[in-house]
Amino acid sequence: MGRSVYVTRDLPEPALPLLRAECETVDVNPHDRALTRDELLAAVPGRDGILCTGMDPMDAEVLDAAGQSLRAIAVCAVGYDNVSVPELTRRRIGASNTPDVLTETTADLAWALMMAAARRVAEGDRFVRAGCWKGWGPRQMLGFDLYGKTLGVVGAGRIGCAVARRARGFDMRVIYHNRSARKELERDIGAVHVSLGELLRRSDFVSINLPLTAETVHIIGARELALMKPTAVLVNTGRGPLVDEEALVDALRAGRIAAAGLDVFEGEPNVRPELLGLENVVLTPHVGSGTLQTRSKMAGMAARCLLSMLRGEAPAQCLNPEVFDKSVPAP
Ligand code: GLV
Repeated sequence: MGRSVYVTRDLPEPALPLLRAECETVDVNPHDRALTRDELLAAVPGRDGILCTGMDPMDAEVLDAAGQSLRAIAVCAVGYDNVSVPELTRRRIGASNTPDVLTETTADLAWALMMAAARRVAEGDRFVRAGCWKGWGPRQMLGFDLYGKTLGVVGAGRIGCAVARRARGFDMRVIYHNRSARKELERDIGAVHVSLGELLRRSDFVSINLPLTAETVHIIGARELALMKPTAVLVNTGRGPLVDEEALVDALRAGRIAAAGLDVFEGEPNVRPELLGLENVVLTPHVGSGTLQTRSKMAGMAARCLLSMLRGEAPAQCLNPEVFDKSVPAP
């Protein structure tokens, strides 16, 4: 007891009951929105732990505002580009994320976007609701088949592999681009490891499943989009800045690719107005892990990790185990 934690969003059960059972003070952002910078800076001073989302910037200014008491940050997301792990380690602050529990849910959304973009589901919905539909037409709203086509997975981590495995049900060829080969994926579904250029040239569907790092920012830009087929569909469920959105808008407008499905955006929550005006892009509001079951698992995992770290123990999903290694002397 005696511990004080701040939770940056009102998370699903069981996060808050778990935290309240072990911490004296558990304060939660009262708004149904992200905190402003000033609100965040005002909320963190004197906290022992922070449970944040992947969207809350836990930069040096926030860490300084929290002060010497801060021992742990649990990120309720698999992507943790909002924290600098080396900086947290330098400050002897533990960090955790929530991998695994959201893998299948996020892979489902990548497929939902591929199908929606290829078969013009959102556009058709808008068309029907607007009263524009005057009856069946042989050339009306024609899309692209998925069955038997080639899926290219950029980033064969947990989520990328789960996206790839689903392609079996559609008799698709799977090619993937990843730093290292995924022998189990090759063995299980016949996936083939290729360069990014080859993947973009050959794929009918491209799913981006990378973490955002200095090396992956704008990994898909004008040059890469130009390699894709004019009939190809691009889907991004990773992080917005993986794709150069301005170049994507140009490619979608010019028909250099057929369609896109985006769950993440460069300037979230702001969506580039040009994207809003395009019919051949399907937009969802960063809901890759958005099912009640999965969000509850993430919330519980993040809370348990935070509590472990506050007890001085390495959490199950630890991003910097060296902070908890008693044999490593404090700097
Ligand atoms: C969501 O974007 C996550 O990284 O979990």
